[in-house]
Amino acid sequence: MLTVRDVAVAGKRVLVRVDFNVPLDKKTGGVADDARIRAALPTIHYLLNNGAGVVLCSHLGRPDGQVVEGLRMAPAARRLSQLLDIAVPVAPDCVGLPVEEMVSQLKEGSVMMLENLRFHPEEEKNDPQFAQSLARLADLYVNDAFGTAHRAHASTSGVASYLPAVAGLLMEKEVEYLGRLLTNPEPPFAAILGGAKVSDKVAVLEQLIARVDALLLGGAMACTFLKAEGLSVGRSRVEEDRLDFARSILDKAERRGVVVIMPRDVVVADEISPQAVPQVVAVEKVPSDKLILDVGPETIAAFTEELRNCKTVLWNGPLGVFEMEPFAQGTRALARLLAGLKATTIVGGGETVAAVESLGLGEKITHLSTGGGATLEFLEGRRLPGVAALLDRQK
Ligand code: 3PG
Repeated sequence: MLTVRDVAVAGKRVLVRVDFNVPLDKKTGGVADDARIRAALPTIHYLLNNGAGVVLCSHLGRPDGQVVEGLRMAPAARRLSQLLDIAVPVAPDCVGLPVEEMVSQLKEGSVMMLENLRFHPEEEKNDPQFAQSLARLADLYVNDAFGTAHRAHASTSGVASYLPAVAGLLMEKEVEYLGRLLTNPEPPFAAILGGAKVSDKVAVLEQLIARVDALLLGGAMACTFLKAEGLSVGRSRVEEDRLDFARSILDKAERRGVVVIMPRDVVVADEISPQAVPQVVAVEKVPSDKLILDVGPETIAAFTEELRNCKTVLWNGPLGVFEMEPFAQGTRALARLLAGLKATTIVGGGETVAAVESLGLGEKITHLSTGGGATLEFLEGRRLPGVAALLDRQK
């Protein structure tokens, strides 16, 4: 991809697609987690410092083509304004004459934000006329919304047909770090996969098992693997229709000599509740009436032993129900472990990144991916429409 560094931006008006689809605080309506806004700062600073007028656009939530008051961009713009320490006015809409008028007044070194793109049904339909209306607002298009790059929408794909289209610095970083995992990760390379379901990670597991030296499993999805190995997992949810798939992954691992570490001890309880009484048991001794809700200390010790010598580590998916105190220890311990490694560490997935950030360890991780679905699709080896639309350096 060509990036914002490859083109002249001084005196230009630049339409920047960002992913400010951030969680909002239910009580105050303010931004609850500004990681995606902070991640876009390098591109915004770069453009402002190099004399561009910056027109930001994003979606927020899923308003389905309607104006939804609670999904206006104002809270994100306010947070950005605090971070940049300059005003970030929000346009009344994202296309149309009043917006064109406001954009035409934008000075070099200033920034403004368009209203939520998904208030228009044409955005998700990748409508060419809507894409042209967006393109009319600028001289250059920059896509920095890696988190939305798996969507072929007007603002992520269509608009690139009408303006020179280059990657922002966040997009560049994401594609570089995640791309290297699939092309030439420095060995030993370990992937730690957790989270709810095997079915969400089928294609990622297929890709990774051909590349990793070690595969470490946790989260609810590990229960399906444990059952596939013939262990009893009590009342834990098992994806019966994925047992064969789990076995095939374990077979491939064995054939390739990949070290697989599954939970050796687990935290069990009667219910998924913050009041539940947690108990650590060996994985062979899960009581039939209990649920597995986290990994135990022996598992973390085994993970530590394996990861100590790794040069590249990818982590996607919490190891337990970490939003509840009794089941948060495994995920927290792993976050601390990664933060202390002398390796290229890459953490992806909204919940996993939030777990790392909640411990203040974000700075100690080489790359925190801002994508949820986009990161997984990228790691599945798919070509993301938002990336494919950008100008190709080779050409
Ligand atoms: C995300 O949060 O994964 C992106 O912003 C994309 O949002 P979407 O799943 O609503 O398209």
